Amino acid sequence: MPDSPLTVSLELARTGITYTRLASDVAKGLDWLRDQRGKLELLSIPGREDDLEAAGKRAAEIAKMAKTVAVLGIGGSSLGGQALTALAKAEKPQVEFHDNPDPFSWEQALEGFDLKKTHFVAISKSGGTAETMMQVLTAAEALEKAGVKSLAKHFTIITEAHASPLADFADSIGAPKLEHPAGVGGRYSVMTMVGLLPGLLMGLDMKKLRAGAKVVLDETLGAHKVDYSPPAAGAALHQALALDNKLATTVLWPYADQLNVFGGWWRQLWAESLGKSGKGSTPVSVLGPVDQHSQLQLFRDGPGNALFTIITVDMQGKGLKAPVARAKKLGLDYLAGKRMGDLVSAEAKATAQTLFKNDRPVRQIRLAKVDEFSMGALMMHFMLETILMGRLMGVDPFDQPGVEEGKILARQYLGEQGK
Ligand code: PA5
Repeated sequence: MPDSPLTVSLELARTGITYTRLASDVAKGLDWLRDQRGKLELLSIPGREDDLEAAGKRAAEIAKMAKTVAVLGIGGSSLGGQALTALAKAEKPQVEFHDNPDPFSWEQALEGFDLKKTHFVAISKSGGTAETMMQVLTAAEALEKAGVKSLAKHFTIITEAHASPLADFADSIGAPKLEHPAGVGGRYSVMTMVGLLPGLLMGLDMKKLRAGAKVVLDETLGAHKVDYSPPAAGAALHQALALDNKLATTVLWPYADQLNVFGGWWRQLWAESLGKSGKGSTPVSVLGPVDQHSQLQLFRDGPGNALFTIITVDMQGKGLKAPVARAKKLGLDYLAGKRMGDLVSAEAKATAQTLFKNDRPVRQIRLAKVDEFSMGALMMHFMLETILMGRLMGVDPFDQPGVEEGKILARQYLGEQGK
């Protein structure tokens, strides 16, 4: 088994937090997880290969036809794919994600597309989400108005294999339907066809994404003690703080642009999975170094009820160098001859120490680089941590009754508006 590309350190997080008091609960959580092999579909996805051919074939067909691919979907049907855009390699097609149904920006987007060369990948697990269906209906209309004869050539649908408005739409126009596995919830679906097809269209090696996820999964399934599994230790750390009423917020703070959108994926995962039964903590996703100049003051001197996870990517010695003579002339000796990566590395270290010295617990995660393998590992780390946290909190990390309630009410209000 290859080594995990993640190095996780709790060195700056342990002071005063005896999370090992949760050792037996975590051990039970790990036993439960092992028992889920063969039952919880998510655990079999990283080792899956049978769907790669269908995804690869469809991606090649789309790439041949389209200049632009617009991925339609919302929440878990979009955020995982969006996180992968940071790794995009292919120049053609251009893959764009459209999740928020703002009437003005969507109309502008449709007007901006060269519609005859645009392909829409519509993703919805339920096949009935109003925002996504609104996009699908209006995109189909725009294509027809642009003189497109065969809508089938302009749509690929990813949805569960049952009757739904989206599945019916696919059938009515003869567009291909790819399977959204029934047992994998939206926010856990990035390794399934939901992330696979967009990822392949972006030129990514999706086998490597799954391989990275598998390393973390296998490591955790093989672990019996909290300290042997970083996701289990992360869950225990969060829960120990929660039990001490010190976890109103959990902050994810990557120091790399490539992980900025990833933060949005994680935020949904944590919030929607764990905010239940009057419990939960608010996930806040920030970016380093820029948010040192925005949030750090609050994080250091504010209420002190947050856990910080700082993610660094090895970048010391990388990037452009500040010219020595000019830097010195300006009195910037500390920058003379330094590269931008040196600056970012020093700042990440400084932020971690600043928080720690002010009694703010900091977990540090280090990656050598952001690629498919490390992204897969990172995603699986946080999915497992979230699931194990759900076990420790006594909430179901797989449902989302609040989201469903909102969906039902929105339909009711739409009905009340009349035509
Ligand atoms: O993670 C989830 O379950 C949700 O965020 C859904 O992904 C989101 O509501 C979209 O649902 P669907 O994929 O059914 O369109």
